Amino acid sequence: MQADLGKPGTGVVITGGASGIGRACAEALAAVGRPVALWDIQAEAVESLAAKLAADYGVVAVGQVVDVADPAAIEAAAQVAREKLPSIGGFVHAAGVVQEQPVGATVVEDWDRVLNINLRALVLGVQALLPDLRANPGSAVVGIASINGTLGNALIPSYTASKGGMLSVVRSLADDLGNDGIRINSVSPGQILTPMMQKSIDALPPGTFERRVLLGRLGEPREIGSAVRFLLSSEASYVTASELVVDGGNISSQRM
Ligand SMILES: NC(=O)c1ccc[n+]([C@@H]2O[C@H](COP(=O)([O-])OP(=O)(O)OC[C@H]3O[C@@H](n4cnc5c(N)ncnc54)[C@H](O)[C@@H]3O)[C@@H](O)[C@H]2O)c1
Repeated sequence: MQADLGKPGTGVVITGGASGIGRACAEALAAVGRPVALWDIQAEAVESLAAKLAADYGVVAVGQVVDVADPAAIEAAAQVAREKLPSIGGFVHAAGVVQEQPVGATVVEDWDRVLNINLRALVLGVQALLPDLRANPGSAVVGIASINGTLGNALIPSYTASKGGMLSVVRSLADDLGNDGIRINSVSPGQILTPMMQKSIDALPPGTFERRVLLGRLGEPREIGSAVRFLLSSEASYVTASELVVDGGNISSQRM
């Protein structure tokens, strides 16, 4: 049977689309013919990637400068995406930040910014795109969570709260969106080689992360892009409210 990874073929809005995992999602989706709108604060990177995807794959690809911490900016960006894409039937929230601030050093403004970008923007993005998701059969949403939504890490309580919150808010939204046939799932990456992760790799002795991972290596962004593309496709038509862990065997590991 022909794989339906490119179906339903509707456009997809991807936050954090200029770099790392968001970028890999955009590439995976454009490669199977899905139009994409990339929302990111990195103006040059988001615009040049959109131009490259349009040239490489012949799809409509739009780069938009959007700070997803700003609710008004999300609303305005949804309107622009609606005008520029042929249709919108997918949303990926990959924009994210991490801030090392253990309890005792927590700064309220920083806590709020991490939660607003990583978690609140998923809900506000869905809200802004709801008319489009409802209008197009087969619509689906993916939130990029993290294995840190499950694991305890003393250094990054705001990050772990945002990702654990994402796992549960996905189940809440799935209850609502399911009434319209819209699916929503989370993907929890392990350690993936992106600019965000590179800082942690550089700060630790070589092999620190790999030792624990059952496959013995870090992940590539494209390996998350494939999982997200699957969840947005009609191949995943009965998958909703779930967490897909893509970590090479990390949270299941007992290796020291
Ligand atoms: N790399 C990993 O190992 C890993 C593991 C688990 C989860 N994640 C999650 O994957 C997602 C992507 O991370 P990445 O590793 O690709 O990092 P990255 O830094 O390469 O990409 C993050 C992107 O988000 C954008 N962004 C940040 N704040 C924004 C804002 N306010 N508005 C719009 N865009 C904004 C950045 O400009 C950047 O392009 C994040 O949610 C992260 O928490 C990453």
